[in-house]
Amino acid sequence: MCGIVGYVGSRDAVVPVLEGLQRLEYRGYDSAGISFKNPEGKLQVVKKEGKLDNLRSVLETQKPKTSIAIGHTRWATHGHVNETNAHPHGNDLFAIVHNGIIENAFELKESLQAEGEKFHSETDTEVFLVLLTKLFKQTGDIKKSIIETFKQIEGNSAVVILNKDENKLYAIKRSAPLVCGRRSGRESGELFLSSDPYALVGYVDRLFFPDDEILCELDPEATFIHFYDLEGNATEQFQKEARSTQETLSTKGEFEHFMLKEIHEQPFLTKQLAGFYSEGVGKELLDRVKGKKFDHINIIGCGTAWHAGLVIKNILESELRVKVTIDLASEFRYRDPVLEKNELALFISQSGETADTIACAELCKKKGLTLYSIVNVKGSTLYRMSDENFLIYAGQEIGVASTKAFTNMVLVGALMAFTLKGEDAIKTLGSELNLLSDKIEALLSRENELKIIAKEIFQEKGFIYTGRNIYFPIALEGALKLKEIAYVHAEGYAAGELKHGPIALIDEQMVNISIVGSELFEKTLSNTEEVKARRGKILVVGVKENSKLKSISDFYFGLDFDGLKYFSPVLVNVVMQILSYYIAKEKGTDIDKPRNLAKSVTVE
Ligand code: M6R
Repeated sequence: MCGIVGYVGSRDAVVPVLEGLQRLEYRGYDSAGISFKNPEGKLQVVKKEGKLDNLRSVLETQKPKTSIAIGHTRWATHGHVNETNAHPHGNDLFAIVHNGIIENAFELKESLQAEGEKFHSETDTEVFLVLLTKLFKQTGDIKKSIIETFKQIEGNSAVVILNKDENKLYAIKRSAPLVCGRRSGRESGELFLSSDPYALVGYVDRLFFPDDEILCELDPEATFIHFYDLEGNATEQFQKEARSTQETLSTKGEFEHFMLKEIHEQPFLTKQLAGFYSEGVGKELLDRVKGKKFDHINIIGCGTAWHAGLVIKNILESELRVKVTIDLASEFRYRDPVLEKNELALFISQSGETADTIACAELCKKKGLTLYSIVNVKGSTLYRMSDENFLIYAGQEIGVASTKAFTNMVLVGALMAFTLKGEDAIKTLGSELNLLSDKIEALLSRENELKIIAKEIFQEKGFIYTGRNIYFPIALEGALKLKEIAYVHAEGYAAGELKHGPIALIDEQMVNISIVGSELFEKTLSNTEEVKARRGKILVVGVKENSKLKSISDFYFGLDFDGLKYFSPVLVNVVMQILSYYIAKEKGTDIDKPRNLAKSVTVE
């Protein structure tokens, strides 16, 4: 989704801003732009529709020299994808970039227009610019005008502001990610900001995460970032974190796509997880929460994280015998849920920045629940809001389609479940984690079989993924993965539900990817028979070397589940990941950055 990068300091500002935007490309965008002060002291805005390279080639011709710049990658929410709507938005006095949504933009725009103010784009962002400029002309005070403008906008936003007459950057946010960074050691100070710390890796050695409604002033003269509350008083409401500049940027290595690389990382990540929770902060966390009792557990997440939550729900319920409900964050936040103090709110998120999930965390915090998160990005908004964070240690996930994060979410969820049960989770699950790792490794060595199946089925009209009980979430996740990257219609269904409607879709151009484990074997088999009887193509992913499964299927991918008590859904899911990848490859889609999608969905 939209990305922000800003720089002020002693080097050519365009370079770190463009580099930062490039690192944020994985988040998804449809246009990009940059604003900087030119040598004549005027604000200049350059923006282009499409890929960042379009912007880069204009800048390569212009070769601007500047020490202050802000940049943005836009994922359209208000207004079409075009150059006018792209950010930054600017005039003679200010240039701004914005992430999020101004919910009362329409009303503000109407009243500003009634006062004679002019607008050029269809965006909500321009409302901020026009209002800010109007207030600044009245007061001549930048800080006050930004704060007053910010007070008038509703919704979750992060805004970064560049003024023509100052060599400073300003930023302010509400429930949207924003991070400021400082590089020490340079004579004149270098200050950065972004919507994602990944953009700043290698550039800064200290990060500052401002709280909501705190104005950040990045002043290279002072080589410092000042923070102010909404009354304009200096404040310390931010969190500081030292980050090593050694932190590395992800590369694809030998793989054609990040997604494939991330799929292949899973055996290693699975194996190393027990290590993280056997000592240090991981062990301390497990010791802290061991045996904790909650009356009810509410699991909340979106997309793949929600699917991981479904698997975790099964484990929590069967092990703890406590009531567990699971909600999509976008629904939970508006359905006025009944919440009590002695309940646990368990949030699951790779990025820790998903707007709906964060809104639910805010709601649960207000209601006094305990907040735990299963999250990948340390320091993310969700991480900072939660009482306890179960980091999934999956490393940076660049592919928009989540793979390794799903696996580690489930595994960490299981560690959490057994810890709450009062057990030594590493003792209970350690050997199964190792076994799973070996089985994923063995599965990856059969990748070519799935590639061949993908070639056979990629042109079919539609795909219905089915599974029962512990495999139902995998049917949902398998279908989501295929939709996301191959742009084909795919649905995940509980196998037992087929005859309640979707079986009407079955014909010889429909593929049923049927997950058949040893649990409920006969029942799932008969559901698959029903599809077969209606001439559907059958790909069975299930228990190995089974003659019944062999005879019913057009394609059969047998798996060795021996010894897996809790994690067989994870193993099946890796098959789904590989299959989606190769179907998408046959289709020739943009696998790592699928159309219309963003890596982290920071707007509602
Ligand atoms: O960062 P999060 O885990 O909170 O993201 C939630 C979803 O947006 C995410 O899982 C999305 O569904 C992925 N593209 C799935 O591959």
